[in-house]
Amino acid sequence: MNILHDKDADLKYLQGKTIAVVGYGSQGSAQSLCLRDSGVRVIIGETEELNGKPNPSWTQAKNAGFDVYDIAEAAAKADIIHILLPDEHHGSVYKEKIEQNMTEGKTLCCSHGFNIVYKQIIPPENVDVIMVAPKSPATEERKAYLAGFGVPGLIAVRQDYTGSARQTALAMAKAMGFTRAGVLECTFEQETYEDLFGEQNVLCGGTVDLIKYGFEVLTEAGYPEEMAYFEVLNELKLIVDLIYEGGIQKMNAVISNTAEWGEYVNGPKIIDPGVKQRMKESLKAIEDGTFAKQWIEESKKGCPNLLAKRKALAEHPIEIVGKKIRNLFERG
Ligand code: NAI
Ligand code: MG
Repeated sequence: MNILHDKDADLKYLQGKTIAVVGYGSQGSAQSLCLRDSGVRVIIGETEELNGKPNPSWTQAKNAGFDVYDIAEAAAKADIIHILLPDEHHGSVYKEKIEQNMTEGKTLCCSHGFNIVYKQIIPPENVDVIMVAPKSPATEERKAYLAGFGVPGLIAVRQDYTGSARQTALAMAKAMGFTRAGVLECTFEQETYEDLFGEQNVLCGGTVDLIKYGFEVLTEAGYPEEMAYFEVLNELKLIVDLIYEGGIQKMNAVISNTAEWGEYVNGPKIIDPGVKQRMKESLKAIEDGTFAKQWIEESKKGCPNLLAKRKALAEHPIEIVGKKIRNLFERG
């Protein structure tokens, strides 16, 4: 894959343009601040009230010195409308407030392709549709930018009405520091399917269940909860840091030979080929829209199952003991 850097992008494609960042949350705040620091004109589209309560994001955007408007007004004023709302709200907010302001030659942008790929947003044909996405949590993205660098990113072009959609995406990536680290160009489907696959099978789903089972087996066998917590949760970070730095071989070079031997003989018994088969099924459910359909239905009902799972997790002993331990131990 081609990796794009600063030299491949030109900020002139944003000159004289206004970007409306819609949603001043984790990504919205980090991206807006970076864009503004790079000299881009940014306004914020938000709602003053959310679920009948004052919306803290509205106030935070104002306090950061941005011009903040209701979403429809911001969309009307902008050339580039960058939607950074929680994914499950893009569809309804787009229909209600953005669609009528998506006039000829404007750009619709997002940082995750879910709503375009699964057709919760159907943009008109006479606009550009792009994606500019950091491969990083928002806090790290802002930190890296302030340190004079950036996090890696992705760009994708879905519709190129103006003929400069790709240049607009690259310019936004440059303004947020992503081209300093390196930017990959992909399709909306690749980004969406890979992102969902990764978080469901390895990063969030997958890892979380591995941690929970490890903790349960140890504590059910009578080992102290505190020790089990350190063993299967706290230490995971230290291991992942090594893998991040230098791959699996770097981690293996640092751990003991005993640990490495245990990895080779026991790992494949725990994560057996059945896991790979189920991962394939998960990828299929992502690609054929089954997962998206279920998640959209759940979010339309107000997320009852999500909320129940969230509550159950808060009651799991590893979360309770973890909270206690993190308050007692220094973590640098
Ligand atoms: P977020 O959960 O921080 O929410 C953004 C803001 O949306 C909130 O501050 C709130 O003011 C507003 N909002 C919430 N519900 C609303 C509603 N019903 N109507 C109007 N406004 C509402 O969002 P986050 O996590 O920053 O995600 C934004 C986008 O960035 C998503 O598309 C996500 O997939 C993408 N993304 C997020 C990453 C992350 O690290 N959080 C990483 C890469 C992409
Ligand atoms: Mg992801």
